[in-house]
This record gives sequence, C-alpha cells and structure tokens, in this order.
Amino acid sequence: MIRTIGRSGRISGQIRLPGDKSISHRYAMLAALAEGRSEIRHFASSRDCHSTLDCLRALGVEIGESGDAVTIDGCGLGGLRRPEAVLDAGNSGTTMRLLSGILAGQPFGSSITGDESLRARPMRRILQPLRQMGAIVTSRDQGLPPLQIQGGSLKAVRYTLPVASAQVKSCVLLAGLYGDGATAVREPVPTRDHTEIALACFGATVRIEGAWIEIDPGPRLLPLSLEVPGDLSSAAFFLVAAAIVPGSEVFMPGVGLNRRRRELLEYLQMAGLDLAVEREEVAAGEIRGDLLVRYREEVLTRPLPRIEGARAAALIDEIPILCVLGSQARGGLEVADAAELRVKETDRIAALARNLRAMGTEVDERADGLVVTGGVQLQGADIVTYGDHRIAMAFAIAGLAAEGETRIHGAECADVSFPGFFERLDEVSGRVAIEDGAGP
Ligand code: S3P
Repeated sequence: MIRTIGRSGRISGQIRLPGDKSISHRYAMLAALAEGRSEIRHFASSRDCHSTLDCLRALGVEIGESGDAVTIDGCGLGGLRRPEAVLDAGNSGTTMRLLSGILAGQPFGSSITGDESLRARPMRRILQPLRQMGAIVTSRDQGLPPLQIQGGSLKAVRYTLPVASAQVKSCVLLAGLYGDGATAVREPVPTRDHTEIALACFGATVRIEGAWIEIDPGPRLLPLSLEVPGDLSSAAFFLVAAAIVPGSEVFMPGVGLNRRRRELLEYLQMAGLDLAVEREEVAAGEIRGDLLVRYREEVLTRPLPRIEGARAAALIDEIPILCVLGSQARGGLEVADAAELRVKETDRIAALARNLRAMGTEVDERADGLVVTGGVQLQGADIVTYGDHRIAMAFAIAGLAAEGETRIHGAECADVSFPGFFERLDEVSGRVAIEDGAGP
C-alpha cells in the first residue's frame, strides 16, 4: 500500500497514542506466568504485541480482548503447555528474545520463528546466556532463527551483556525466574528498565546491586490490573513533526516517560524545542505524563547535539526520526556508536541514507552511524520502507516538510508499532492521502 504525503502548513491537535509496545509485551508475558486473571488496559494495538499474545495462546494461555483491554488468565510459572506448532513471533524481536527466556525454563521443547526480517536478525546474543544457564538451544547457521529450545530447570548465572540490549537483559532476567539461585545481569550502558519494573510489580524479587540487576527464582507471580501508558517512541514522530512544520502545536496525553527512554525529551529540549511535560505521575513503577510541543524556529537554526555513546543506546528507536529532524536543522546531525541500527527490522542506517538522499539530503554513511547534512529543502520522493515501521513513519513526517509529494511504499508496515498512524497524521495535518495512489 502506498500512502502519499503532501507539504503541510501547520500541525495541530491532540493525539492519543497507542499503548507502549515494550511495556505491553512484558505485561502480557508476566500476566501469563502469574496465578490468576490480569487485566491490562490500553494494551498496545501494535502488530508486534499481538504476535506476543498469539504465542502465549499457543502455549495454552487464555486471553480475552475487548477494545484495547486484554484479560489474561495466567497459568503460573509452571503452567504453560507444550505448543502444537512452531511459535510465530512475526516481525517482533522483543517477542522472540523475551519469550525465549521463558521457554528456556519450561520442561518441554518448543520452536520459535518469525517473518523474513526477524529470521535475519542476530540471536546469538540470547543463545549464549541461555546456553550458559543450561538450556539446549539450537538455531540456523550464524545464530539466526528459527530457534529450537529444550528447556528445564536452569543454572543461575552472573552475565555481563556484550551489547547494550534491553531485549537480551530481559531474556536473561525472565530465564532467571527458573534459575536454581539468584541470576544477575550487567549491561554496558543502561537500557530501558521496563522488565525490572514489571517483574517487581508482579511479585518477583529484583535487586539492583551497583551495576548488577539480580533476580531470585519464582516462587510465584501475582495477577494485576494495569494500564499501559502511551508509547513515547510513537510520540517521537509527532514531536519531530511539530519541530519542523512552522506554527505547529501538538498535545499528547498519558505518555510513558521511562527514565531510560526520556532522553528523547531531554535531547529535544536541549536542541531548543518548546516541549513541556505536564501532570507527571507514577503508576506500577512507570512514569507517565502529558506532552505539549510547539514549533520554535531556533531548533532549525543550529546543529543538533551529536548522538553517540550512552545517548545512542537511549535513543536507538528514535534515531530514524531524529535524522529527519537533522536534515532540517542548519548544521545537520552526526550519529555514532549506533551499529545496532544495522540489525533492527532492517538495516536502518542504509535505509536512512537511501531515503534521505532520495529526498535531496547529503548523507555520509558510516559503519556505526551517519552524518546528515542539514538545512536542506526536502523534495518529495518515492520512499522504500524495507518493511520497517520506523522508516515508514519517519519519512511520512519528512514528507510534511517536502516540496511535492512523498510516496511511502509498503506503508502498512507502520502497523507493527502504530496502527492508525497515517489516519492520526492526516487528522492533525490534513496532508495524507489514505487511498492508494491518490494525491493529497
Ligand atoms: C526493546 C529493546 C530495543 C528496542 C526495541 C524494543 C525492548 O531493542 O530497539 O524496539 O522492548 O526491550 P534491543 O534490545 O535490540 O536494543
């Protein structure tokens, strides 16, 4: 499906974001392992989180859905059933990596696969710790999915992650529920801590000891009634839209502001954006608040702060849309230490370079990042998304500032994290053609 975006005069309005994708995965998995019925409101509508629900169903968990509320009848840490077929994680790396930690603790064998993109993503990073814990895990060559996991009771380990990855950290912590003692992980730089927070809420014993995050095995998790905050990574597209389209003003209520992810807000404020956080509160250990963003010309008159080191890890999902902002900021943007982008849903560095160039931006592509020349008048172009939701949405926003039409090919991939994205964008900009091929 092609969505056509036209140049926009002003973005304004209120946007209710989908439930946070990372948090929804974790709540669903932990609710499935709890003893009794959990209710999760504002569960992510994302296709990825539905892959998690489908895998849990295949493991014998009863799940009901009504609107954006999900009820999950947890069957206890030992109550999952051997699946009859290969589990399908779809496009979702989080489903595959986190669920593998749980499967490693089960007394049955299982297999998990995914779509073409996921079958090309590196899994050695979870195979190593799971094997150290005693699980028998096999993969295709070079650690690629599908994975076959023969689980059982696991050995507790102290594991230092070689890459900054919340998914790998979470995989080990979830496997730690089935360990024979306390399992600990240490990460090279801090990543989103949704798993640690959610585990503690569901009743697991989690300790932070210096750089180590430690979890005790079992004994049981308790069901909860929870509400998922809005997804900050989805908000990022509208924050940048407001930053590049003069006169814009956007309000987004109830957005998740996890301390490891709100670097995005600090970064945009540092860049000079008029961005206010209102009504901050904490629920189930997660911070949420309302975001009000207004266009301010200064953002576009200077280079953006360099993205590197710990900042690159904290902004990893937002780098595509920040590169679009970089193309508009005089002085551009330099991104380094972000080689992980090459193993996301697609090689995001290559996809960014290809599409930014197609829109008239000069890009220096590097092994671990890119340098985007700023201050250019973007030109509408045909955008190749490579099936990657964040590339599709980032370039839809770029289209708002471009002369002529921008056509997003394969636009339906946005559903992976944000079903209804193009409709929301049309509501606030009036510049999206919903029907195939039609101009705005
Ligand atoms: C996620 C962790 C990150 C992020 C992904 C979601 C999570 O991946 O890019 O979108 O929910 O734990 P990595 O762990 O591969 O960095």
